[in-house]
Amino acid sequence: MTDRRRPGSLRLLVHVLRHLQPYRAAFGVAVVQVIALAVLELCKPWPLKVVIDYALPRQSAPFPWLADWTPAQLLMLATVALVAIYGMGGALSVFNNFTTISIGQGMVNDLRSRLYQHLQRLSLSFHSRAAVGDLIYRVTADTFAIQTLAMNGIFPVLSAAVLLGGMFVVMLQLNTLLTAVALAVCPLLLLAILLLNRRITELAHEARERESAVYQLVQRGMSAIKVVQAFSKEEDEHRAFVAQSAASLRSSLNLYTLQTLFGAGTNLVLACGTAAVLWIGTQAVWRNTLTVGDMIVFVSYLGSLYAPINSIVQTYGTVQGAKAGLARVVEVLEEAETVPDGHAVLATPVRGEVRFERVAFSYSADRQTLHDIDLEALPGEVIAIVGPTGAGKSTLVSLIPRFYDPGRGRILIDGVDLRSLKLTSLRQHISMVLQPPMVFPITLAENIAYGRARSTRQEIEHAARLAQAHEFIVRLPAGYETIVGEHGATLSEGERQRLTIARALLRNTPILILDEPTSSVDTATEAAIMEAVEEVMRGRTTFVIAHRLSTVRRATQIVVLRDGTIVEHGTFDDLMRQQGGFFHQLYVRQFAPQEEREVRSRA
Ligand SMILES: Nc1ncnc2c1ncn2[C@@H]1O[C@H](COP(=O)(O)OP(=O)(O)O)[C@@H](O)[C@H]1O
Ligand SMILES: [Mg+2]
Repeated sequence: MTDRRRPGSLRLLVHVLRHLQPYRAAFGVAVVQVIALAVLELCKPWPLKVVIDYALPRQSAPFPWLADWTPAQLLMLATVALVAIYGMGGALSVFNNFTTISIGQGMVNDLRSRLYQHLQRLSLSFHSRAAVGDLIYRVTADTFAIQTLAMNGIFPVLSAAVLLGGMFVVMLQLNTLLTAVALAVCPLLLLAILLLNRRITELAHEARERESAVYQLVQRGMSAIKVVQAFSKEEDEHRAFVAQSAASLRSSLNLYTLQTLFGAGTNLVLACGTAAVLWIGTQAVWRNTLTVGDMIVFVSYLGSLYAPINSIVQTYGTVQGAKAGLARVVEVLEEAETVPDGHAVLATPVRGEVRFERVAFSYSADRQTLHDIDLEALPGEVIAIVGPTGAGKSTLVSLIPRFYDPGRGRILIDGVDLRSLKLTSLRQHISMVLQPPMVFPITLAENIAYGRARSTRQEIEHAARLAQAHEFIVRLPAGYETIVGEHGATLSEGERQRLTIARALLRNTPILILDEPTSSVDTATEAAIMEAVEEVMRGRTTFVIAHRLSTVRRATQIVVLRDGTIVEHGTFDDLMRQQGGFFHQLYVRQFAPQEEREVRSRA
C-alpha cells in the first residue's frame, strides 16, 4: 500500500468537503459565529480609544452621533461597551467551540464507519498484503485527521481573512503609512510558511508511519506470543519494540522541534512589526498627525491580527500531520474492491452445478498458481481434491466463493458466471470449512450459529452432534454458553475444526467446501465426522480436500493437483488403473498403509 502514490491535497479537500456536506447547516452557523467573533475583535480597542482621545482630555467626540455626550457620559459608554464586547465575545466563542467540535466529531465518526465498512468488503488479496496493526491505526487514530483539517484548517483562515479585511479598512481610515508598515509582515510570514512547508510535511508523514509501525509491531508480537515464548525471543522482541518506539518518538520530537522553531521565528517577525509601528507611530503622534488613541488601535490590531496568523502558522504543522493522516485513510478508501460486486442473483432452488472453464490464477505477477483448470461438478457430486502441499488445492476452492477472481477463464454455478453475481447471493449458497479453523471470542453456540443467526438450540445441537462436537461442548463448565478464549476455555485445534464443521453443516447450503476439515483430529473421530458429513453431503455438491482414503474413495470424482495443474482426474477405479500414475503412487505410499491400519483397528 505504501508504494502507491499518496492522494494529493486536492483529493483530500474533496474528501473533507464530502464529509462536511451533511453538516452544512451547522457549518453555516459556525461561519456566522466566526465572522461575528472577528467583528467583535475589531471593536475591542475602540472603547480605550474613546477614553484616551476624548474622555481623558475632556473633548467631545468628532462623531455626529456622540457630539452631545459629556466626557463623563463618554467614559460611562466606553466602560459599558468594553464589558459588553468581551462578554459577548466570550459567550460566542463558547457556542462556536461547541458547534465546531460537534461537527468535527460527527465527521470523524462518519469517516471511521465508512472506512471500517470498506475494510470489511475489501478482498482477501488486499488483506493478505495489509498489516492489521497499520489498519487499526488508520481506523482509530488517522481518522481524527478530518476533524483537525476541517477545524484547524478552515476556521483560522476564515477568521484571519475577516479580521485582516476589517482591519485593513479601519486602519486605512486612520493612517496609510502605518497600515503599510503593519501589513508588511504578512508576506514575510507567508514566505516562511512556503519555505518550511515541504520539510514539515515530510516529517509529519514520517512521524505517522513510525507510530503506525509501533502498532504493527505490537500486533504482530501479540498474535504470535506463543511462538515468541516458545523460542524465548521475549528479549529480542522487546529490543525491537524499544528501537521502533524510540524511532517513532524521535521523529515526533523532530517534528515538534521544527514546529516550535517555526513558531519562535514568526514571533520574532511579529515583534519586529510591532516595534516598527511603535517607532513610526510615536513620531506621528509627536508631529500631531496621529492621536494616541489611534496608535493604541494600531498596536492592538496588530496583536489581534497576529493571533490568527500566528495560529495558522502554529497549526500549520498540525494540519500537515492531519493531511498525512487523512491521506492514509483515503488511500484505503480509494483501494478498489478487487472483487467487484455483480448484480445477478442465483435462481432458487440452486442446483449446485459448478463448472471451471480453463481457469488460471496467480496471486502475484511473477508466479502462476493455477493453470488451465477444467472441472465440472454436477449437482450432488463429491469432488475430492488431492495433491502435495502447495499444489494449489486451497486456492482452487477459494475461487468458488469468489475470494479471488480467476485471471483467465471463468467459473459458473448453475450456468451463471460468478462475476455477474451479487456476492451475498453467491455466498449464501456456499458453506465452507476453511484452514485454519476460525472461531470468535463469543459463546460456542453463537460460534456455531455464526453463519445462520436465527437457528434454534435444537438445530445447533444437531449440527454439533454431526460434527462430533457435542460431546466435548457439554463437558465444558458452561456448555454451549462457554465463551471461547475466556476462563481457560481455549480449544484445541481439533475442537476448533469440529466447531467450524458444525457451523458449515448448520448452514445447510447446496454447495459445501471442506478444506482438510479433519486434519487435526484422531483417526476414530475423523471416521465418525466423515461418516456424518457424508450423510450431510448427500444431495449437495461437495468439494473436499482430504487425506483420508475413505473420503477419497467415495468421491464421485478425484482431482489430482500438482503444481497448479490437474495431472489426473477420474473415479477411484480410473485412477488406480493408471499404474505408476501420481495417484497410484500416492495410494501405495500413503493410503494403503492407512487402510491397513484401519482394517487392523476395526478387527
Ligand atoms: N494469499 C496468498 N498470497 C500469495 N501466495 C499464496 C497465497 N496463498 C497461497 N499462496 C501460494 O500459492 C500456492 C498454492 O497454495 P495453496 O492453494 O494453499 O496450496 P495447498 O492448499 O495445495 O497446500 C503456494 O505456493 C502458496 O505459497
Ligand atoms: Mg491448503
